[in-house]
Amino acid sequence: MEEKLHALAQAAKEAVRAAKSLEELDGVRIRFLGRKGELTQILRSMKELPPAERPRLGQLANRVRDELEAELAERAENLKRLLEECRLEKERLDTTLPGVRPTLGHKHPLTWVLDEIKDIFLRLGFDVVEEPEVEYDYYNFEALNIPKDHPARDMQDTFYITEEILLRTHTSPFQARTLERMAPEVPVRVICPGRCYRRDPADATHSPMFYQTEILAVDKNISFAHLKWILITFVREMFGKNREVRFRPSFFPFTEPSAEVDISCVVCGGKGCSLCKGTGWLEILGSGMVHPRELEIAGYDPRKVSGFAAGMGPDRIAMLKYGIDDIRLFYENDLRFLRQF
Ligand code: DAH
Repeated sequence: MEEKLHALAQAAKEAVRAAKSLEELDGVRIRFLGRKGELTQILRSMKELPPAERPRLGQLANRVRDELEAELAERAENLKRLLEECRLEKERLDTTLPGVRPTLGHKHPLTWVLDEIKDIFLRLGFDVVEEPEVEYDYYNFEALNIPKDHPARDMQDTFYITEEILLRTHTSPFQARTLERMAPEVPVRVICPGRCYRRDPADATHSPMFYQTEILAVDKNISFAHLKWILITFVREMFGKNREVRFRPSFFPFTEPSAEVDISCVVCGGKGCSLCKGTGWLEILGSGMVHPRELEIAGYDPRKVSGFAAGMGPDRIAMLKYGIDDIRLFYENDLRFLRQF
């Protein structure tokens, strides 16, 4: 019995030392001190010993048990400390390391230009409105004095949804809508930026979807001089103070008289180069005095009020301003292109 106890004490000591986790350590405790544990069984069998030996062996067994309990407790402490150290090591954070910067996006080059256009006209006293891209034939053509047989209505140019509904081919229907809404109130001073659609195959200068911004002013005694001043001011805000501006007679069904506006070439300054095809001039917008017929259709009396209108292509303006030679780049969203701005 005595030997058995010594052997058991030895075996228990080794098992405690070998336990690598709290679970394993608990296994050791159960193995020796559990209800059916090896030491428990020995303690139970004490009563079968001759009475003379009981006290000595009983004391020994109790000492073995006390020692084992102390060893278990100490090992448990050590294991807990070790586990905690491991956890802290794993979660260590070096706050002095440089962080990873999140990449910040920025505005699309077209958005820059559209914002700049809006900003210039807001400072000139104009409001900004948006109108539908899906439009009635009536506002896109009819109310703008574009008769049924006008070439602009050709199926080739317009995306029709039904016979009466289409994707607007320009922002000019905004003129008709605004005048109809405001009539007979003056003054009218509004611009309308937005997307337009035409059945053009995409190439370097054409896109089936593109932008326009329309300008409209109606009041008593508005003259061509007002149109010129506003547009020259706009061009010089947009392209710099020294930009030359030229008004060239033209034709639009909804303006009379009409003029196209050219600016001195942004590359050669007017000497002639490949961008301006040797002319020294670049066309950037269409304009004119609102046709009396259009005013009348909307409910204004053309003998009492007059107005001017203009339409420009922000895509083209952005291309000229930033030296971009292909309009498709705006709509492909290639990050290598967009990141350059
Ligand atoms: N709507 C015309 C176009 O798409 C541009 C235009 C010309 C607009 C003259 C106007 C204007 O307001 O007065 O080509």
